[in-house]
Amino acid sequence: MSATGKKRALMADDIRASKGGTPLVSLTAYTTPMAQMMDAHCDFVLVGDSVGMVLHGLPSTLGVTMEMMILHGQAVARGLTSAMMVIDMPFGSYEESREQAFRNAARLMSETGAGAVKLEGGVSMADTIAFLVARGIPVMAHIGLTPQSTNTLGGYKVQGRGAARDALIADAHAVTQAGAFAVVLEKVPATLADDVTAAVDIPTIGIGASAGCDGQILVVDDMLGLFTAFKAKFVKRYAHLGETAEAAIATYADEVRNRAFPAAEHVFADEVPQT
Ligand code: KIV
Repeated sequence: MSATGKKRALMADDIRASKGGTPLVSLTAYTTPMAQMMDAHCDFVLVGDSVGMVLHGLPSTLGVTMEMMILHGQAVARGLTSAMMVIDMPFGSYEESREQAFRNAARLMSETGAGAVKLEGGVSMADTIAFLVARGIPVMAHIGLTPQSTNTLGGYKVQGRGAARDALIADAHAVTQAGAFAVVLEKVPATLADDVTAAVDIPTIGIGASAGCDGQILVVDDMLGLFTAFKAKFVKRYAHLGETAEAAIATYADEVRNRAFPAAEHVFADEVPQT
């Protein structure tokens, strides 16, 4: 609670301080109703650039723009009161220079009210992370499988295997030293995720990593069974809302075609006619 008695939203420092405690709960959100549903259950909500694939039908996250992130960020912000909102920096909005990253991160935060940005990259982005943090922008890092680099990673493969293990550990240390308040570990072997979790003093947020991470995140449409174009092996479906929705649409279509759709006269039968 804040001094005004209103529940205050979690901030980057609260997330950082939870290292080693009760695991952090997080999901992505892109709309107000979904954000409202998760507000009481999540510590932070990510406006992920996965929105491009999940809601806009894009083949990857590479086509996501600042404008898309801002629009969805504003919608999510309207649905949150206690969970922290983190927003993804889209591909091309931060890699060119620290200054470009600051300009776009500041815009994302000021136009959406997000409490932090997330960006992809380890050692290569450490300098940028330090620049942002020194200028008031909390940064969540994202290492391992970084979907914006799918073209250089050769697809959506498991990362950090074999010789790549040391590079991933170096990435984790680099973003920690640069001042990131948490780090997402995507699609890395569980033993490696556990080692990284033990090695760094910021929370690790796993997605296809290990139950031993300091928190977990999933794409909400994946775990609800709403996005069915493909399913990563690590995704557990907690519901099958896509199937339920399609069945409901089919029932509606049948009712309309068979003239079984409830007629307006029945629905409004008890209303006094206006003269
Ligand atoms: O965009 C996204 O959804 C992400 C994940 C970590 C879930 O970055």
